[in-house]
Amino acid sequence: MAGVAEQIVPMILGERSYDIVLHPGLLATVGDRLSALTTSPKIGVVTDRHVASRYLQGTLRSLCKAGYDPTPIILPPGEQTKTLGTITKILDVLARHKFERQSLLLALGGGVIGDVTGFAAAIYQRGIPFVQVPTTLVAQVDSSVGGKTGVDHRLGKNLIGAFYQPCAVLIDPLTLRTLPRREWIAGLAEVIKYGIIADEEFFTFLEQEIPALLKLEEEPVIHVIKRSCEIKAQVVAADERESDRRRILNYGHTIGHALESLAGYRGLIHGEAVGIGLVQEADLACHMGLCGREVVERIRGLVQRAGLSEQISPASFRSLWGAMQHDKKVVGGRVIGVWPVRIGEVVIRPIEQQVCAAWFQSKYGRGSRPPSGRQSGKRPVRRKARARR
Ligand SMILES: NC(=O)c1ccc[n+]([C@@H]2O[C@H](COP(=O)([O-])OP(=O)(O)OC[C@H]3O[C@@H](n4cnc5c(N)ncnc54)[C@H](O)[C@@H]3O)[C@@H](O)[C@H]2O)c1
Ligand SMILES: [Zn+2]
Repeated sequence: MAGVAEQIVPMILGERSYDIVLHPGLLATVGDRLSALTTSPKIGVVTDRHVASRYLQGTLRSLCKAGYDPTPIILPPGEQTKTLGTITKILDVLARHKFERQSLLLALGGGVIGDVTGFAAAIYQRGIPFVQVPTTLVAQVDSSVGGKTGVDHRLGKNLIGAFYQPCAVLIDPLTLRTLPRREWIAGLAEVIKYGIIADEEFFTFLEQEIPALLKLEEEPVIHVIKRSCEIKAQVVAADERESDRRRILNYGHTIGHALESLAGYRGLIHGEAVGIGLVQEADLACHMGLCGREVVERIRGLVQRAGLSEQISPASFRSLWGAMQHDKKVVGGRVIGVWPVRIGEVVIRPIEQQVCAAWFQSKYGRGSRPPSGRQSGKRPVRRKARARR
């Protein structure tokens, strides 16, 4: 991949604008790329153990070569690291090493590392610069771009956080070669989402290139990351704080988050739940008369070929509406959904419980009635955490 030209996607947000730079082998030159972003030699490199074992030494070497004084902060891998306790640990290191307003934090890892590093950067001395160096597909196409940072609370996922933009996103697609296959496939669900919400041509590209993507072939992989970042950057530029248009990024996540929550955040990883959501929310949109059956079948076909599941078991329908009620997309008791009208175009509309109930029944018959609104309001899904992104 190293012969491929560098790609730059601008994230245009006034004085908070930054570049998303994409280049195979970029990690080896990360130090040289920071000179315009900080005047302080101190860099905190936040990462997790899995990523550290593969990429930390090379990153530190590049930083030292460029004249920086890096301090590694190595965290345990996984969602359980996204806590306020972790933030305290990061802040302790920064304070002990006398990090200043100009000192920079570098997030080297997946979405978990990006979210905690961004949040620590947002609050240390009321904000220090940070750079995202994402190493999972989810992080390269989604979480590193757009400025949502934060941690989970025991009563809700992503309940605590801040909008805080990085000053650059530096993507090295070569890091994806060591990603576990399951994480790779889960990331493809977010990629498919971009085609559905914004770009039919991209969706068609994915239909054609899915075998090559599953083999991690360089050209389609780079195109997928670049196009996904372009779409996300465009949506975020239009609505940074999710008051309106940014909601379209939640397509597939209303049902996806509910399924994750019902599974207690075990057994089903985020992208896998989103894959199911992409198909089932299209099916629901078709039931509401918003799109034709052919839209649902195209989405189902691509999701299946990517190796993702698209089925929900009938048993889970009983609690699904209840779980959907506990998402931040609920306004005044109505769930605000994102619905495809065709591939490449979605609309944002609330959905009533009765409509959802009729859809459940049309799929699975009478036994699949969801709980009533009153019951579902009284009995939240009490699992580890609720989904919010
Ligand atoms: N901020 C946002 O806008 C946003 C958007 C989407 C998701 N998220 C958040 O992102 C998190 C999920 O991110 P994720 O899917 O990247 O999970 P993750 O950060 O937990 O990474 C998944 C696993 O892959 C490992 N890993 C990372 N890079 C690797 C590599 N190159 N080679 C081998 N192993 C590697 C990690 O150690 C971890 O075990 C969730 O907490 C979610 O809430 C945030
Ligand atoms: Zn997602």
